[in-house]
Amino acid sequence: MLLHLKNILTPDELHSARRLLGSDAPWIDGRSSAGDQALAQKQNEQLAQDSENAGQLQALVLAALQREPLFFSAALPKKIFNPLFNRYSGNSNFYGTHIDGAVVHSRATSQWVRSDISCTLFLAEPSDYDGGELLIQEAQRERGIKLAAGDMVLYPGSTLHQVAPVTRGARLASFFWIESMVRSTEQRQLLFDMDMALLQLRRRGDVPAVVQLTGTYHNLLRMWADT
Ligand code: NI
Repeated sequence: MLLHLKNILTPDELHSARRLLGSDAPWIDGRSSAGDQALAQKQNEQLAQDSENAGQLQALVLAALQREPLFFSAALPKKIFNPLFNRYSGNSNFYGTHIDGAVVHSRATSQWVRSDISCTLFLAEPSDYDGGELLIQEAQRERGIKLAAGDMVLYPGSTLHQVAPVTRGARLASFFWIESMVRSTEQRQLLFDMDMALLQLRRRGDVPAVVQLTGTYHNLLRMWADT
């Protein structure tokens, strides 16, 4: 499943986020957080995780996720890794093909999080930089994703992906992982599709069949979810 969620952040929040990610923010070499395999492939900058800027930005992103029902329905989150922030510009401008670590340790929460879902929240407008597409490997082709500032993409953590070189400007983004209550991508997709269809049916009136199907949704979720 690859899901595009629009307007996760408001224009005011984007403004605050970009201010906190300005040139005087505590940027460090992104390789400090890469595993051995990713090390040679990774050339970007990352905001120091334990900085005050990162704390404010994390709170901003987590609050935005809380108010987005589509995010909850699609991700069914059990644990959300504290959002991280990166910048691709100048000579630190790409991240070659890799797969994210299966379990990631958060220094902020001392938790291990299984990366069922990877998330990228775009913070710079596409017109502010050239290149920088998130390239996701699908069965037959690579799909390029470059979203409006404030939009987010969710994709399975098991996916090969890369960030194409940025040749002008700066690409700012937040990225993080989710351990879902429903581990299987296929089961999560079925639940999401059913939830979206129920939403449409409910708008047409709460007939007994809708009540019954809603019950079926919850019974499937009960069968598949681990909390
Ligand atoms: Ni990655």
